Amino acid sequence: MNEHRYPDADIAAIERVIRERRDMRHFVPGALPAGLIERLIAAAHHAPSVGYMQPWRFVRVAAPENREALYRIVDAERQATAAQLPSRAAEFLQLKVEGIREAAEVLVVALMPEREPHIFGRRTLPEMDLASVACAIQNMWLLARAEGIGLGWVSFFDPAALAAQLGMPAGARPVAILCIGPVADFPAAPLLETSGWGSRLPLEDVLFEEHWKVGAGGTATAY
Ligand SMILES: Cc1cc2nc3c(=O)[nH]c(=O)nc-3n(C[C@H](O)[C@H](O)[C@H](O)COP(=O)(O)O)c2cc1C
Repeated sequence: MNEHRYPDADIAAIERVIRERRDMRHFVPGALPAGLIERLIAAAHHAPSVGYMQPWRFVRVAAPENREALYRIVDAERQATAAQLPSRAAEFLQLKVEGIREAAEVLVVALMPEREPHIFGRRTLPEMDLASVACAIQNMWLLARAEGIGLGWVSFFDPAALAAQLGMPAGARPVAILCIGPVADFPAAPLLETSGWGSRLPLEDVLFEEHWKVGAGGTATAY
């Protein structure tokens, strides 16, 4: 008997939300329930972070003209990505990769400036600040799904252009545009799977015993 264990129903709920979380790009009109955006940000703020540095910063973008500016930055990067995918450019451009203009809420998540002095856990792995921000976003993603609200992570942008648009100080680095809002439904499988872009790797391709399995599958096809 483990006294720290959560009740079965709570554990089932956690496994369910992990399985049923989806990256969402299609939103329907409507606002978030009152208080939810604050709870989502609080969930993010309870994430683990290297050296407890809490490197995440959030910018809420609501004004239509500012949303439009974000959209233009993302669309420019989408076109640049398509230009580098000659074999699948047309297929790629069919994919919806953002919901910036339609989503009830847009949050830009950024790494704070002046991260260099934080060497606890980062001396050899400075990118652990980014890993910490990813943990924060995952917390929001799971809570949003449990609340029946969609969240999409958009990473198609030139970080310098986005930083300039938001007036970020030197050294701050945007890592995500999050589109958050009500959705019509949550697909059972990732959109990139149902659209034929990729598929989930078998577990045996990602789990090795004792040493790296040379020649294992282990990579999704890159385009
Ligand atoms: C770091 C990161 C960046 C991503 N950037 C984008 C993006 O720019 N546009 C997009 O449509 N999806 C983006 N995604 C979502 C992935 O495409 C999605 O997570 C993946 O296809 C699996 O689908 P699922 O999240 O529904 O399980 C991103 C996901 C992560 C973790």
